[in-house]
Amino acid sequence: MNDDELRGVFDRMASAYDSKVARMAPINNGLYFLLESVLAELPQEARILCVGVGTGTELIHLAGVFPGWRFTAVEPSGAMLDVCRTRVGEVDLSSRCHFHEGYLESLPLEEMYDAATCFLVSQFILDAQARSDFFRQIANRLLPGGILANSDLSADVESEDYDALLAVWQRVMATSTVSAEGLDRMKSGYAKDVAILPSAALASIIESGGFDRPVQFFQAGLIHGWFAKRATATHAQHVGRTDPNHPARTGDP
Ligand SMILES: C[S@@+](CC[C@H](N)C(=O)[O-])C[C@H]1O[C@@H](n2cnc3c(N)ncnc32)[C@H](O)[C@@H]1O
Repeated sequence: MNDDELRGVFDRMASAYDSKVARMAPINNGLYFLLESVLAELPQEARILCVGVGTGTELIHLAGVFPGWRFTAVEPSGAMLDVCRTRVGEVDLSSRCHFHEGYLESLPLEEMYDAATCFLVSQFILDAQARSDFFRQIANRLLPGGILANSDLSADVESEDYDALLAVWQRVMATSTVSAEGLDRMKSGYAKDVAILPSAALASIIESGGFDRPVQFFQAGLIHGWFAKRATATHAQHVGRTDPNHPARTGDP
């Protein structure tokens, strides 16, 4: 799927997205619970970049736990972002959020962030180099020591266990009866549109995008979570202190 096709998929899914993923709440709550501790040492007034924020679930969770934090929500699907804006407004968080409809490339380089979340996004970038470049764009937006928290579907699709794991995952996701045909459809859909890699391979792609060695802090079914600090070289290499676009708030020593 190219970017336009993927955006179309999420545009069409937006109004039903939250009810579709409601079943996954125990998994997401586990992920967010651990995420709180991953990010616990950030400043009280931290700025957080939420890449592929979707309908805003992770942003709303973090904003509730850390009342001094401010958020930039990046989302290419206008319909997903509209749902996010509405939900954020309903819980009175709009004044702490900036919404950017589009990709990271078009987000003005006006501020640097203490941390970024990127949940279930990079898996749609099938080419490994493009996926590494995507992580580098995130690294380039982070302050020194800034933390990326990333989640993606991950598995060794070549392993003997994959079919059995996928069958369990199908039951986890299923809103109706599961079938052998449904399982085949899921398997071929993932093979075509989702880059499901073993954990070590994905960690290595994140690292190649300008991060220290990622730490896997979460797994539930196919969903894995990693955190990683921005590697010290990234900033000098790719943004540069003398860059006229370099934002004032760098925190560089
Ligand atoms: C599966 S949803 C996850 C949404 C949210 N992070 C969550 O965990 O509920 C993936 C989201 O990433 C967005 N997305 C896809 N490709 C992206 C990209 N290259 N950059 C930013 N967002 C992207 C999609 O539009 C979609 O809203």
